[in-house]
Amino acid sequence: RPGHDLVVVANRLPVDSRTLPDGATEWVTSPGGLVTAMESVMRTVDSGAWVGWAGSPGQEPDPFDADGMSLYPVRLDQEDIERYYEGFSNATLWPLYHDVIVDPEFHRTWWDSYVAANRRFARTAAPVANEGGTIWVHDYQLQLVPRLIREERADVRIGFFNHIPFPSVELFSQLPKRNQMLRGLLGADLIGFQRESDTQNFLAAVRKLLGYHVDGQTISVPGLGAAPVREVVAQTFPISIDSSKVSALTEDEEVRARAEQLREDLGHPRTIVLGVDRLDYTKGIRHRLKAWGELLGDGSVDPRETVMVQVATPSRERVEAYRQLRDEVELTVGRINGDHSSIGRPAVSYQHRSFDRRDMTALFMAADVVLVTALRDGMNLVAKEYVASRPDLHGVLVLSEFAGAADELRAAVMVNPHDIDELKAAILRAMAMPAEEQEEAMRSLRHQVMENDVQAWAHSFLQRLEHSGAEVREPK
Ligand code: G6P
Repeated sequence: RPGHDLVVVANRLPVDSRTLPDGATEWVTSPGGLVTAMESVMRTVDSGAWVGWAGSPGQEPDPFDADGMSLYPVRLDQEDIERYYEGFSNATLWPLYHDVIVDPEFHRTWWDSYVAANRRFARTAAPVANEGGTIWVHDYQLQLVPRLIREERADVRIGFFNHIPFPSVELFSQLPKRNQMLRGLLGADLIGFQRESDTQNFLAAVRKLLGYHVDGQTISVPGLGAAPVREVVAQTFPISIDSSKVSALTEDEEVRARAEQLREDLGHPRTIVLGVDRLDYTKGIRHRLKAWGELLGDGSVDPRETVMVQVATPSRERVEAYRQLRDEVELTVGRINGDHSSIGRPAVSYQHRSFDRRDMTALFMAADVVLVTALRDGMNLVAKEYVASRPDLHGVLVLSEFAGAADELRAAVMVNPHDIDELKAAILRAMAMPAEEQEEAMRSLRHQVMENDVQAWAHSFLQRLEHSGAEVREPK
């Protein structure tokens, strides 16, 4: 197989393999914001490769081509899935990096498995890049990979992008093996974060825990043995979506018809309030339902005129905190519906499944209000997708200040989701907003989202990467 100029390494491939009852394999789009964003980027790249897990235990199909890129599957066995993926990645790092919304758990066997899995990704990725090519590593599951690749390939440029928040140094310091984690990341030439606060948190951790010299965004990393000092840059690159593609979908006759159909199926309510999330405790779904239940209970919202649609995409279903969350959410939805629905007219239409891109766009087109109430979120691309889906300038975005998107989408109705009274007031304000005010806000939001799309994001990251890593100095 030929080498590649750009190699993406992520825990998941852009497609998941599913085994059908007849034994055949079906490929479906993988969940989450990382894939949403990077898939669009890779479709426009010549000679691109993607290294990642195919989503089922024990499978390692041969490399294959799809959508103009080459996919290189990495095998994860059941034990890797339990310890590296569900354990260290999603029961240690995920809660810690999201400001301990639930308690992180730590087990030494999980760490060992994390190291071993990171080695496997690095070993698959290293030979795939062309001489002098670029390897771009993604997200918290693979923080050791930059250094592991550097040990094998001195000729390639290595970038790393963290899609989730980077915690304050006080929280990060709790992580056992924290220094190995930092050294793993510092194998990259350029390390990108979503928000300026993430970049600053990372730089503070490097300064405090490793004692390295930091000058602005540049870190001086001592070489091994007699090797010279390397300069590593940490910088903020807020990720985005393929804005014009989403916007163009709203012109599609079939998508428009689906949006109409959705309104009809819901009984032509005056107002449709929508939430779309992976079923994750970082998303503030419970807070949203609490606010909604109270609004119905105190009569501020009339269930004969208004419906909430909550799409909850199944996620990490074997991790305990996710099971508990699902139970709580479904109990609450059941209670609200028991108290406030009438026959054929739910107060909350709850959908525990994923929607494809076209159905998703139709939902956004049908929604009068979208609620993004994350307690912590790297960026939140749902907020940007909603804005891109509204060239008609109608609809209101309610946005948590704890989502990365809050730094850019200033014209949204901002909310602190922990404050249930504030959340209720924000929902009512959004539902009552006059058309001209909606248009003005949406115009400003669209300006932001259409100008700063995911292609521009990838371009600026790769440009910066090209100009970094070149300078090496003798140790002082
Ligand atoms: C977030 C993370 C991704 C992850 C996705 C889906 O977007 O940043 O790295 O892939 O969630 O989660 P999952 O555990 O199903 O891959």
